[in-house]
Amino acid sequence: MKTVCGIIGSLRKGSYNRGLMMAAVEVAKDAGLDIRIFDRIAELPVYNSDDDTDEKLPQSVVDFKQAIGDAAGLVIATPEYNYSVPGGLKNAIDWASRPAGKSPLNRKPAAIMGASTGIGGTIHARSDWQADAQVRDLDRGSRHSNEHRRDLKLRALPCRA
Ligand SMILES: Cc1cc2nc3c(=O)[nH]c(=O)nc-3n(C[C@H](O)[C@H](O)[C@H](O)COP(=O)(O)O)c2cc1C
Repeated sequence: MKTVCGIIGSLRKGSYNRGLMMAAVEVAKDAGLDIRIFDRIAELPVYNSDDDTDEKLPQSVVDFKQAIGDAAGLVIATPEYNYSVPGGLKNAIDWASRPAGKSPLNRKPAAIMGASTGIGGTIHARSDWQADAQVRDLDRGSRHSNEHRRDLKLRALPCRA
C-alpha cells in the first residue's frame, strides 16, 4: 500500500477539515493508499532561514520533511483564512520548500481539498496553493514549462461545510 502524507490546515479540535481528512483516510484505503497525517504543524517554529541549516534545523522540521520525503504523495485539507491559505500551513510549506534543489516537495504529486463555512468553499486558498505548486514544482522537475503545466497533477477539490 502506498503511503501519502496528510496535512490539515486547521488546528481547531472540531475542525471540518480534520473531518474531511478523516473521511479521505477511509476512502483512500479502498484505493490502496495509506494517508498518514502529519499532525504537528503547530510545533513548527515560524520560518527563519538562520535556523534552516543542518546544525540548527528544529527536530519538528526534520520530522516533517522526513514524513513528506517518505510519502508517495501529499494531500492537504485546509480552510481558507482571509482569502488565502492559513498561516500555519503556509509556514509548514515554507519549511518543506527549502533548500530549493533538495526540497522533499520536488516532484511530489499533491492534492488539495478544503471545507469552509463560507460560500466560496476555500476557492482562494486552493488557488493560492496551485500558484505555490507551480513555483515550487511539486510534481515535475522542470519549472514553468508548458510541459510542467500540462502534467501538473495537483487537483483542487471544493467541499463546503
Ligand atoms: C481568521 C479566519 C479567517 C477566515 N477567512 C475565511 C475566508 O476568507 N473564506 C472562508 O470561506 N471562510 C473563512 N473563515 C471561516 C472558515 O471557513 C471556518 O471557520 C472554517 O470552519 C474553518 O475550518 P475548520 O473547521 O477546519 O477549522 C475564516 C475563519 C477564520 C478563523
